Amino acid sequence: MSNPPLRLGVNVDHVATLRNARAGVNPDPVRAALVAIAAGADGITAHLREDRRHIRDDDMARLKAEISKPLNFEMAATEEMLKIALATRPHAVCLVPERREELTTEGGLDAAGQHNTLRPFIARLNDAGIRVSLFIAADPRQIEMAAKLRAPVIEIHTGAWCDAVVDGHTTKAEAEWKRIVAGAQAARSIGLEVHAGHGLDYVTAETIAALPDIVELNIGYYMMGEALFVGIAETVRAMRAAMDRGRSKLANSASRA
Ligand code: PXP
Repeated sequence: MSNPPLRLGVNVDHVATLRNARAGVNPDPVRAALVAIAAGADGITAHLREDRRHIRDDDMARLKAEISKPLNFEMAATEEMLKIALATRPHAVCLVPERREELTTEGGLDAAGQHNTLRPFIARLNDAGIRVSLFIAADPRQIEMAAKLRAPVIEIHTGAWCDAVVDGHTTKAEAEWKRIVAGAQAARSIGLEVHAGHGLDYVTAETIAALPDIVELNIGYYMMGEALFVGIAETVRAMRAAMDRGRSKLANSASRA
């Protein structure tokens, strides 16, 4: 039996971070997206933050106009962002929590705590034909709420697991991994499409690629760092190869079962 395909979404935010360091036009995140797609990326992710610290409004518009693969528009659940998303009409919107002072998206969205605000928000995106994903921790309460809110997709926040792996905190890494495995299974069993992302590198991407319930990984920061040394195309190929190695473990374990 063939493996369920695993898509690679490449996040180009940090090409814009570098560009904005000199407030000019280079390096261009759209050019990065085109190179990533030519090298095998299945989609492009970009986060338009409220403070516009990396991706800007015209980047999002240009990405939508110029790329041939699905655009995943990450954003906070605010009226301003909803207006931009509805005008941009990306393939997907991933709703993320956002705090101005954070370095990156530090935790998952509290769908359970904010269900009253999120419900009409998700409905408006659903009505516009934009696939909604909620970036949440692999927590049963959040997963169940995502389904109740009629979000068709969740993206599991892998940041805590990746940090624990990189820092060598084995016990914490194992606990986080178990949560991810159980969360992905639970989400799929109630009909949600499951994605994952945040902090992934070649090693953690290979590991998580072996989970059959996950169909998409969204990866940015590590890949753009690697790209400084070997280029974006080579980084995309190396990440794809790591994911394929992980996915083939799934086939091997299935054939042993
Ligand atoms: N997925 C979501 C929802 C994110 O917010 C981010 C970070 O912008 C990523 C994936 C990618 O994380 P990283 O840049 O650490 O690979």
